[in-house]
Amino acid sequence: MKFYIETYGCQMNVADSELVAGILKNNNYKITDDYQQADLILINTCAVRENAEQRVFGRIGLFTHQKQINKNLVVGLIGCVAQRLKDKLLNDFKTIDFVAGPDTYRRLPDLIEKVKQGERPLDVILSKQENYDDLEPYYYDKNKITGFVSITRGCDNMCAFCIVPFTRGRERSRSPENILSEIQTMKKDGFKEITLLGQNVDKYNWNDGKMKFANLLEKVAVEFPELRIRFATSYPQDMTDDVLKVIAKYKNVCKYIHLPVQAGSNAVLERMKRGYTREWYLNRIEAIKRIIPECSISTDIIAGFCGETEENHKQTIDLMRQVEFDYAYMFKYSVRPNTFAARNLADDVPEDVKSRRLKEIIDLQNNLSYQSNKNDVGKIFEVLVEEISKKNDKQVFGRNSQNKVIIFNGDESLKGTCVNVKVTGFTQATLFGEIC
Ligand code: 5AD
Ligand code: SF4
Repeated sequence: MKFYIETYGCQMNVADSELVAGILKNNNYKITDDYQQADLILINTCAVRENAEQRVFGRIGLFTHQKQINKNLVVGLIGCVAQRLKDKLLNDFKTIDFVAGPDTYRRLPDLIEKVKQGERPLDVILSKQENYDDLEPYYYDKNKITGFVSITRGCDNMCAFCIVPFTRGRERSRSPENILSEIQTMKKDGFKEITLLGQNVDKYNWNDGKMKFANLLEKVAVEFPELRIRFATSYPQDMTDDVLKVIAKYKNVCKYIHLPVQAGSNAVLERMKRGYTREWYLNRIEAIKRIIPECSISTDIIAGFCGETEENHKQTIDLMRQVEFDYAYMFKYSVRPNTFAARNLADDVPEDVKSRRLKEIIDLQNNLSYQSNKNDVGKIFEVLVEEISKKNDKQVFGRNSQNKVIIFNGDESLKGTCVNVKVTGFTQATLFGEIC
């Protein structure tokens, strides 16, 4: 049987699709990148924002048509939307044969078997233990140069706007032994860079706190000196100086931190239940800049959260100017069902005001990114080459330690190697350079 898998949402979801592909491969399924060839189509979904969820429904329409062509086709919806909407999906969409949440992937072969026997199974039980620790992912869609390794699953933070605790369940860590052995396998497979993943990596905890994230990061850095190591996502409340010192100490740990701030005013941060203040966040930024001067910093920002005043919004703008983020992911607030905000706070910022504030945030970030890239002109960076440039096959692209994309002249032979590149030009999104 051939399967096709489509993935939406975060890096965790990409890693989950690789896990699912591994489970199916072990059950004699073969992957295809053409859904028209597939006997099994899986859509791994994201529920984090309303528009992410809408995209999934568009795809279901397409696969409905495919089912008319291939009568034996099985279509399964997995991941965060599956967890959120559960049996509603089976009721609303006749195309969907089964629904499976993020903690049920081990049982996928059984679910598919049930479909073949005429059932339409639903499996959305969340688990406090399941961390898929012992399973081997299948890196099907990768250049096999950069890859993900999940170190924790779930989230216990309960931010007021966020659906993740409801779709991915409680926080749990994987054993260091299995994490290290997965990285070892990836190294053998030729990977040059791995990203340690978790909703909040700073909460990594093994053996009752004897191994924390700083210890794990150091262990990985020491055992794999020839690999580049990244991680995501950090949480301002929990990110310790110990972690920063490990990043500073090891050359192979990339100098890049994604530290979502969400908002710049204490009133909004409190309503968001983020557990830190503006001052705390700025203190963490100060620590990064002091301990790792060459570090780049990116963030997530939400415009127009419940009760956000113009003054609150100005504080977000002011904080962005103060930090000078190198990059940001910026969103308009959308209510997610069951969250604290959905149950207790009024979504009272008018749509046009949300849009205008988001635009102001994006415009400012564009300027900050432009400035950040401009400051890199003339500098020399070590770049790990990932691919031939899509626009020009005489050029390659890769990333520097700071996670910035750099494009320069080169060919296929450079793929997977590290080269020194001098930055000679830039746009707000990309650096351009030449090998030196
Ligand atoms: N509305 C808008 N943005 C959201 N995010 C999470 N939930 C919401 C929501 N309800 C954003 C946050 C988070 C990123 C993954 O998505 O900025 O960090
Ligand atoms: Fe989307 Fe969040 Fe689920 Fe990732 S964890 S797929 S961002 S809802």
